[in-house]
Amino acid sequence: MTIVIAIDGPAAAGKGTLSRRIAETYGFHHLDTGLTYRATAKALLDAGLPLDDEPVAAKVAETLELAGLDRDILSKHEIGEAASKIAVMSSVRKALVTAQRAFSKKAPGTVLDGRDIGTVVCPDALVKLYVTASPEVRAQRRYDEILARGAAADYEAIFADVKQRDARDMGRADSPLKPAEDAHLLDTSEMSIEAAFQAAKSIIDAALSQN
Ligand code: DC
Repeated sequence: MTIVIAIDGPAAAGKGTLSRRIAETYGFHHLDTGLTYRATAKALLDAGLPLDDEPVAAKVAETLELAGLDRDILSKHEIGEAASKIAVMSSVRKALVTAQRAFSKKAPGTVLDGRDIGTVVCPDALVKLYVTASPEVRAQRRYDEILARGAAADYEAIFADVKQRDARDMGRADSPLKPAEDAHLLDTSEMSIEAAFQAAKSIIDAALSQN
């Protein structure tokens, strides 16, 4: 049986870094499901297609190839915004969830991170983590990241964005962002990446030893 680790949480909570490290540690395949929404949104933008035409967006989602999704190409702020907009469409979600579930079955194990992994995509995951941090801390981390790259950043604008994205991701009718009932909550507001990783590792090791 494939072991699945589900990691959910809001934008900029640190789940990407954490998920990659967990996948590496256990030798599991990793899928950042945000990239599937981002790639669909980018394909629409590149083709000059509207973001509010559900049948068109669903068609694009149905033909998406998971191989070759590249965070560098898809990291742009506008793509994240567009992704959050098309993510409210049920037929887009249905197509992407089908591909994500197929990925989750790869042996010996998988780590999927996103917004609805523990609640909808992989409700039977062995371990579910809900990784969060306060909006202020998440905005500050994003701000520091941009400055570290040598670009200019406006903290207030980033903070407003973080709150708007949370409202859209948590407020949508289909698969809103929320912790699964059996998720372990990991609030990283006052934690280093290392401490968050160690906390996650203890939870996973405990679950594996009982499996
Ligand atoms: O994690 P991210 O910033 O790359 O995600 C971009 C958007 O995609 C996010 O705002 C909402 C959507 N998304 C989703 O609805 N469900 C997921 N499992 C992952 C992402």
